[in-house]
Amino acid sequence: MCAFYRDDSQQLCVDGLSLAEITATHGSPLYVYSGAGITEAFTQFQAAVAPVSGKVHFAMKANSALGVLALIGRLGGGMDIVSLGELARAQAARIDPASVVFSGVGKSDDDIRQALACGIGQINAESIPEVAAISAIAADMGVVAPVALRVNVDVNPGTHAKISTGQRDTKFGISTDQREASDLYRVLCDDPHIRPAGLAVHIGSQIRNLAPFEAAYSALLTLANELRNAEMPVPNLDLGGGIGVDYDMAGPTDFTAYGKLVERLFKDQGFTLGFEPGRAIIANNGVLVTKVIYVKQGDNKRFVIVDAAMNDLLRPTLYEAHHAIWPITAPQPSIGKADIVGPVCETGDYLGLDRDMPNLANGDALAVMSAGAYGAVMASSYNSRSPAAEVMVLDGKAHLLRGARPIAKMINDESIPDFTAAAKN
Ligand code: LLP
Repeated sequence: MCAFYRDDSQQLCVDGLSLAEITATHGSPLYVYSGAGITEAFTQFQAAVAPVSGKVHFAMKANSALGVLALIGRLGGGMDIVSLGELARAQAARIDPASVVFSGVGKSDDDIRQALACGIGQINAESIPEVAAISAIAADMGVVAPVALRVNVDVNPGTHAKISTGQRDTKFGISTDQREASDLYRVLCDDPHIRPAGLAVHIGSQIRNLAPFEAAYSALLTLANELRNAEMPVPNLDLGGGIGVDYDMAGPTDFTAYGKLVERLFKDQGFTLGFEPGRAIIANNGVLVTKVIYVKQGDNKRFVIVDAAMNDLLRPTLYEAHHAIWPITAPQPSIGKADIVGPVCETGDYLGLDRDMPNLANGDALAVMSAGAYGAVMASSYNSRSPAAEVMVLDGKAHLLRGARPIAKMINDESIPDFTAAAKN
């Protein structure tokens, strides 16, 4: 069932609370997440992959609010991270470091050192120099680093170019074309400071059909079996994330077919599996509520100017992404198309273009749907705007996860050089 639904009086609600009540308390613009929806998505994903032995590491780049991470942690989730900032968040949310996988193409020495110091479960390495750096740091620290190799199996995921990672000409993974991947895996096996943890693959995001997953996973399996045949241990296969969601209907994702594919390919093959879903767990369990400031009739177009902007939700601007936009109160008939735009001084600052919209006026609220993933985490303070606060509804109560960052605090974090002293030197 959809986490966001209309009640008998057509108010848009989440877990028994109307978005109107929540925004009356917490203001606008505001991210609102459904704790029940996140729980359902995460447990359904776990159930879909239950026939194979594996662990789900939520890709927290999709949403790293501590309240969300802690909820997923309570459901048995580990975390997929890409920075020390994300590691600190995992720790703050009391996730066991042994259940954390460190991905990413550019880990610094400091990243590697701190990850090893806290007892990270797995580092996914992507290049020859990265493996060398991990080995040297582990030797220096007197520890053995658990390292998997992220491979590039040259599969086109059929998604937006900016979120495709599976093809050869992207920066991701180590090629399986020649012998690069198997030669580097041999290096892992021969290094006393490294424990070879297996292989990893992640071909992209918002993938809406299973064929690219099947191609990538089959290639991974072939390589893993080749390595095993050459007497190299391959305990774990990390299958990445990437499962897409329905941005039109904002409904839940069915993981059954994905689970069946994984079962068909990997059951009884003797590997433990790792999964890194991000978007599919949370995109459709979050909305961005925004209020109309003005309605402006241009020569050819109606502009609905709202209080959320590209600094709150960058996806439409950056990827031409489509998010459904619904009134939060009883929907009225459309009076024609409108662009829903923010106050930021860029033509690219929009949340939706050419949408059928009813007559709207100052103070009316809209919900930008499917905004739970890659929404708040990609926010910025562009135009010195404070990014929208985040609230999660759990058991019929709205909990503030993070308030809007006060402008005064942003200004206090900065300093002005002493120009008169500089001029004297
Ligand atoms: N694992 C790795 C190594 C990744 O790079 C990613 C996403 C994931 C897992 C999770 O993928 P998901 O299940 O969420 O598709 N900002 C973009 C999406 C960027 C995804 C980056 N990597 C957007 O708003 O569409």
